[in-house]
Amino acid sequence: MKPKTRCLCVTLLLFANNIVSSLQQTKQPNIVFIVADDLGWNDVGWNNPEMITPNLDKLAHGGVILNHSYVQPVCSPSRTAFMTGYYPFRVGLQHSVIWPLQPHGVQLNKTFLPQELKRLGYATHVVGKWHLGFCKWAYTPLERGFDSFLGYYTGSEDYYTHERTVGKCHGIDLRFNNSSLKTENSTYSTHLFARRAVDVINEHDTSRPLFMYLPFQAVHSPLQVPAKYSRMYEHIRDHQRRKYCGMVSALDEAVGNVTAALKRRGQLENTLIVFTTDNGGQTKSGGNNYPLRGNKATLWEGGTRGVSFVHGAGVGNPGSVRSDLFHAVDWFPTIVAAAQGKTSSAIDGLSHWASLSKGKPGPRHEFVYNIDQIKGNSAIRLGQYKLIEGPPGEPSGWIFPPTSWSGGKHIDRLWGSESAIMDRQNVSVYLFNLEFDPNEHYNLADVYPELVASLSQRLAEYHKQAVWPDFPPDDSRGDPAHFKGFWSPGWC
Ligand SMILES: *[C@@H]1O[C@H](CO)[C@@H](O)[C@H](O)[C@H]1NC(C)=O
Ligand SMILES: *[C@@H]1O[C@H](CO)[C@@H](O)[C@H](O)[C@H]1NC(C)=O
Ligand SMILES: *[C@@H]1O[C@H](CO)[C@@H](O)[C@H](O)[C@H]1NC(C)=O
Ligand SMILES: *[C@@H]1O[C@H](CO)[C@@H](O)[C@H](O)[C@H]1NC(C)=O
Ligand SMILES: *[C@@H]1O[C@H](CO)[C@@H](O)[C@H](O)[C@H]1NC(C)=O
Ligand SMILES: *[C@@H]1O[C@H](CO)[C@@H](O)[C@H](O)[C@H]1NC(C)=O
Ligand SMILES: *[C@@H]1O[C@H](CO)[C@@H](O)[C@H](O)[C@H]1NC(C)=O
Repeated sequence: MKPKTRCLCVTLLLFANNIVSSLQQTKQPNIVFIVADDLGWNDVGWNNPEMITPNLDKLAHGGVILNHSYVQPVCSPSRTAFMTGYYPFRVGLQHSVIWPLQPHGVQLNKTFLPQELKRLGYATHVVGKWHLGFCKWAYTPLERGFDSFLGYYTGSEDYYTHERTVGKCHGIDLRFNNSSLKTENSTYSTHLFARRAVDVINEHDTSRPLFMYLPFQAVHSPLQVPAKYSRMYEHIRDHQRRKYCGMVSALDEAVGNVTAALKRRGQLENTLIVFTTDNGGQTKSGGNNYPLRGNKATLWEGGTRGVSFVHGAGVGNPGSVRSDLFHAVDWFPTIVAAAQGKTSSAIDGLSHWASLSKGKPGPRHEFVYNIDQIKGNSAIRLGQYKLIEGPPGEPSGWIFPPTSWSGGKHIDRLWGSESAIMDRQNVSVYLFNLEFDPNEHYNLADVYPELVASLSQRLAEYHKQAVWPDFPPDDSRGDPAHFKGFWSPGWC
């Protein structure tokens, strides 16, 4: 080989290497995974023009709205699905949330999303609500793949004092990494978590990709918000709804601060932002799911069809709305695929990255809403059909936002009588065609018995794969009195 050609070859080789590594670098995006707590279907600007959520609206409309994105009926199960890619009924977390004194957590033989992302070179941080177990250190964030944690382990605490009371047990639930955090009494949690998220972005070494999981406390009860946010909704007479809407707008401002921080560091274009609620709105505490039927903690669409969008790096067709089925278990493989990794096919989740980035049809045609052997209910989706077996849960009506109606009562306007008839008959099987009846007004179970039978058979196959819920009794060893007044690990 003549020296000149060799030189050219070496140059080409170097050039190719550069392309490969620069492709790899540009292709691994930062990922910010934002979860809102108990945010209802009718509580965001793109579903309800009365809501003041300019930052979320801008991201949703400039990204891809997932209009058929499903979550579990309550908190810990959805988060289990997000973090593991498994249906909660496979890991014993399908029945309820993890209560503060219960000695359990997500099975330790499950790989968490940040563990997978760390292998792909990511820095990993969590800011906000954990709710996946803390009675032993092995269940806590730094042991499950996160480099840092600022947040709390349980749920439902005070937004300012960060205190949580269960019966006679009372303590503060807030930490930075492994250590209790005593300096933030009176800092509203939405401000605290937004500030930490901005710090994570500012301190991040941009030679590595960043994964930040940002599960806010907002907008779960208790209803607490600085007055400046509730004043944005002075026209709402119902005081619960007015506060709740203020909490949503504070959350929106927090998301605005996070995107502004990404922008300031020149990282916004290179960041994939995922936004989802963990379950439907709690209408007893200001949330709303109208026109969807039902509430948080039910198998109705109002409990399980969640607001969600993706925005930014790698997302194709910005400005579009997707109507294919997406389930909470799908975030794990979808996010790993966006990060250029691959997940095991043992998980329940399916990657939607090809559809989200290239506009291809989605991979999902079926999912299980839940199987709860203690409540004795379960539901499955196949295409446009939904089968519910057992009591779907209460409240089960169509609850209008108490904006122009007082008291937040069931409106039972057009459909109430039908609902009443169904309840009187003690119906335990519902079949809905959600393509034509997305709000579950017409039970077709008597009309299509063969369809009921085949869906029921399919659901029965999943029942065989379900483990019994892991729902142990409270254990007083977890009392914060044993841990200097903080909800703490080390008692199971
Ligand atoms: C989402 O689906 C509902 C039906 O449940 C439909 O009325 C609505 O227009 C869709 N939203 C968007 C943004 O396309
Ligand atoms: C994972 O751990 C759970 C208990 O925490 C156990 O029941 C299950 O069999 C384990 N699974 C595997 C695959 O080892
Ligand atoms: C928590 O851990 C992160 C990452 O190691 C570190 O940057 C941060 O300073 C730690 N915080 C505290 C209070 O130790
Ligand atoms: C947090 O605590 C766990 C368990 O004691 C320990 O393994 C881990 O190294 C600690 N991490 C930090 C950053 O202190
Ligand atoms: C937090 O502040 C409130 C009000 O200022 C006070 O009543 C409470 O005792 C404080 N809590 C702690 C743990 O310091
Ligand atoms: C957003 O940032 C501004 C400016 O720093 C701050 O005043 C505001 O409280 C922040 N909002 C939230 C919700 O954190
Ligand atoms: C409704 O059905 C359940 C289960 O079949 C049964 O236990 C319950 O007694 C029934 N309730 C009424 C009011 O008929």
